Amino acid sequence: MKIAVIAGDGIGKDVTAEAVKVLGAVSSAFGRRVDLEHLPWSADHYLKTGETLPANGYQLLREFDAVFVGALGDPRVADNRHARDILLGTRFELDLYVNYRPVTLLDDRLSPLKDRGRKDINFTVFRENTEGVYVSIGGRFKAGTEDEVAIQEEINTYKGVHRIIKHAFEFATANGHTKVCMADKSNAMQQGHALWQRVFKEVSGQFPGITASHQYIDAMAMFLVKDPGQYQVIVTNNLFGDIITDIGGALQGGLGMAASGNIHPGKTSLFEPVHGSAPPLAGKNVANPIGAMLSTALMLETLGARDEATAIEAAVEAAIATDQTTTDIGGALGTREVGDWVANRIKLKADS
Ligand SMILES: NC(=O)c1ccc[n+]([C@@H]2O[C@H](COP(=O)([O-])OP(=O)(O)OC[C@H]3O[C@@H](n4cnc5c(N)ncnc54)[C@H](O)[C@@H]3O)[C@@H](O)[C@H]2O)c1
Repeated sequence: MKIAVIAGDGIGKDVTAEAVKVLGAVSSAFGRRVDLEHLPWSADHYLKTGETLPANGYQLLREFDAVFVGALGDPRVADNRHARDILLGTRFELDLYVNYRPVTLLDDRLSPLKDRGRKDINFTVFRENTEGVYVSIGGRFKAGTEDEVAIQEEINTYKGVHRIIKHAFEFATANGHTKVCMADKSNAMQQGHALWQRVFKEVSGQFPGITASHQYIDAMAMFLVKDPGQYQVIVTNNLFGDIITDIGGALQGGLGMAASGNIHPGKTSLFEPVHGSAPPLAGKNVANPIGAMLSTALMLETLGARDEATAIEAAVEAAIATDQTTTDIGGALGTREVGDWVANRIKLKADS
């Protein structure tokens, strides 16, 4: 496997080092070669060279089987230009239309909700990843004055909405789920979200074995906290998916626990923890590396290395069960020590 690694900024570098350690451990344990190429694209690189990524950057990424990203964002780059080019740019240029975010609580003790545990918090969110309000179409008129007008368009296309909804139903079918819930705001956003309504009805009709339901996104935000056990698969747009998966991160025990994939089925895809670069924690050996490790598991699963993915997930679960974790989830270890423990556990299990 050929993997491009972009550690990025802040704690992205800290957690990527541990994700790479764990990838090395499964590679040795299962005898499957994983070649990593570290790309320096980051705020440091941008500030030093003026380049966010090279002119052939997206083409370069297409030559890998997958891309792993730590996190991007640095207060020294006020307009976040490098993060936009590297992360959002790659999502758009490689047409990574599926944002795949499993929300699985790995230990009852990490649940932030009273009387809710592993059986209640176990669902998958599919967020549309190439359209919506993140396409940056719009403009500002009379900027900086009291007459300023700012327009930010939301783009919804039949093709874009159809392919993400279809993917959610196909995932549900392939994984033995019986329910898919679509969230929108069609009561207030009567143009774009009417399209979501129409396509959801059309696609759900092709999957008679799956119960299709709909919730307005504000109601879903409430139900995710009150009754998360009702969900198996959720599908929604770019903005709403971004927001509810941070709720998902909290349900898993914190943002440091959450993993994600930005996928174009069958093509080079990008995997990253859900969290950002958390500048105040950077370089202090305190960031939780579990979201990054679980993102490597998603990457391996997507590339067909299911045993390796399962080995990482099992070792992470064991680390949590025995408190071999960082302080944000109740342990007393540093980032590097969690990486050492999980890598060693993978080796021990493979040897036994
Ligand atoms: N995908 C990405 O690369 C991505 C995602 C979100 C934010 N960002 C960028 O990251 C920078 C910081 O943004 P933010 O502070 O809003 O979000 P953040 O995710 O970096 O941090 C939010 C909170 O979660 C905590 N946290 C996050 N990850 C953690 C981990 N692994 N272990 C322990 N605690 C963790 C932080 O301490 C902070 O309190 C900004 O520049 C933002 O644009 C990048």
